[in-house]
Amino acid sequence: MTDRKLISMATEVMANSYSPYSRFKVGAAIECTDGTVFTGCNIENSAFGATMCAEAAAVAAAVSAGQRSFKRIAIISEGNSYCFPCGSCRQLLYEFAQELEVLSARADGRYVSYSLASLLPMAFGKEHMDNL
Ligand code: THU
Repeated sequence: MTDRKLISMATEVMANSYSPYSRFKVGAAIECTDGTVFTGCNIENSAFGATMCAEAAAVAAAVSAGQRSFKRIAIISEGNSYCFPCGSCRQLLYEFAQELEVLSARADGRYVSYSLASLLPMAFGKEHMDNL
């Protein structure tokens, strides 16, 4: 799948964003190593701390379907700035995909690519709990 196609899937799901509080719509599409794609949008809550990011929604859909191995994620928001995963989502993604490629797209179609490793250096992961 091309980067553009993955971004277009993130763009499509962004339309379903439930974001009455921030009015900041986000969409994410995560590609599994077998090529399957799962999407998610941000889902806000009146108790703000219960808000779910688009990336977390996409991971939840994928893991719930039995997927645990990912190679790429595309994230898009409406504005003309690049939306990168928040710190909590970086950690969530790291659990399943230490080698993940992160595409961040803008509404005007431009996008950038980073490794998750560069966005979350010296991450804590299950490999550090080898006493378990
Ligand atoms: N948000 C995401 O969905 N993903 C991100 O990477 C950054 C933030 C959402 C959460 C909230 O609904 C809104 O954007 C404003 O923070």
